[in-house]
Amino acid sequence: MKLVTIIGARPQIIKAAALSRAIRNHYKDQIQEIIVHTGQHYDDNMSQVFFDELQIPRPDYNLHVGSASHGVQTARMTEGIEDILIKEQPDFIVLYGDTNSTLAGAVAAAKIHVPIVHIEAGLRSFNKAMPEEINRIVCDHCSTLLFTPTEAGLENLKREGFPVEEDGVATLRQVQSPTTSTPTIDNPRVFHCGDIMYDNSLHFADIAETKTDIINRLNLSGKPFVLATIHRDSNTDHPERLSAIFKAIIRLSEECRIVLPLHPRTSKLLKTNLDEELQKQVFNNANISLIPPVSFLEMIALERHARLVMTDSGGVQKESYFFKKPCIILRPETEWVEIVQTGNAILADADESRIMQAWQHFKDNPPTSFPEIFGDGHAAEFMLEKIILCKSL
Ligand code: UD1
Ligand code: UDP
Repeated sequence: MKLVTIIGARPQIIKAAALSRAIRNHYKDQIQEIIVHTGQHYDDNMSQVFFDELQIPRPDYNLHVGSASHGVQTARMTEGIEDILIKEQPDFIVLYGDTNSTLAGAVAAAKIHVPIVHIEAGLRSFNKAMPEEINRIVCDHCSTLLFTPTEAGLENLKREGFPVEEDGVATLRQVQSPTTSTPTIDNPRVFHCGDIMYDNSLHFADIAETKTDIINRLNLSGKPFVLATIHRDSNTDHPERLSAIFKAIIRLSEECRIVLPLHPRTSKLLKTNLDEELQKQVFNNANISLIPPVSFLEMIALERHARLVMTDSGGVQKESYFFKKPCIILRPETEWVEIVQTGNAILADADESRIMQAWQHFKDNPPTSFPEIFGDGHAAEFMLEKIILCKSL
């Protein structure tokens, strides 16, 4: 069986590592994986570092699309992916998450009848101002096999009319073997399988402790610190929102060290969207470490040692839960509703006083219970088993 996997943005490269590893370890005689990098992310520390560190095979194709407006970037990717699909004639295309690379893969594949496997299906923010919400809805509705990481994802797909109950697909892994009907774009099949990012976090957690020295290098050993990331366009592109977040970070820095690996989008926009006075307070603050994007192993070492995580990233929200850390979410809503419902994350939006209240809340009530809501760390093997099964129908 031949799979064409599309990756492009940092989190997709990281997620793809888990599936490629499972193919290598269990299915190398049965599955050929062709990797296509769209080139959406291209700086070494946003792309190459993950291939080196996570042993992801070198991409067979790189479309080098780079940065552009949504329309231009998506169109360039769609054109390139269509050519590759026509040439390679895969059994399935594998798409991750909700970026423009996901959307381009979905549109290219659906129009020429290549069945789509969507990993991280069913997530919804119910906020269509987010480009990711458009991308994930389109991708889900063009897909043949939908792998959803959470209960909430499963419920969302049910609500949108996916034939979940008819197929008996209910709780995690309690999936009945597909019936005799062949899955197609018009007869899609949904699997609730756990989170592929959890596979990676479990696999690399101990490796990160021995293979990185970031905790010592930043002089964090034994010292409490907050790990922060900010990259959503809804925060970076709006001066008032970005300023509110940084005002809170400055206040927090009076109590605790802050480590902030900066996404390139944020690095660029800090200089235009924070006023001079705020920039001075941020850049000349000994307790705020603004650092370039870190590698995945460095990131999970930071997450493991942090006292608290503050982020607008989807992946980092989940990883903070995997490593049992409280999380302040710098967004008005989240797709990962379970981590809020369990009390381990608080939605503080880009609101200085809500961020400070959330900080105080977690200081007074450090979370202690992190129920298993993301599966058992073997989502990738389960997905491959189901892909092979569905292909045989
Ligand atoms: C994209 C995804 C977002 C995901 C994020 C992960 C879309 C619409 N957004 O957002 O869902 O959470 O990736 O990190 O697909 N840039 C560089 N070097 C790079 C990459 C980007 O300098 O290697 C800068 C460019 O100025 C670019 C900007 O970052 O314009 C934004 O990059 P882009 O890929 O368009 O969106 P992200 O904000 O990274
Ligand atoms: N990440 C990383 N280095 C960083 C910041 C994030 O390796 O400097 C990892 C993080 O551990 C997670 C993924 O990137 O696995 C999340 O990607 P990002 O925040 O860019 O996007 P999102 O998940 O919001 O789509």
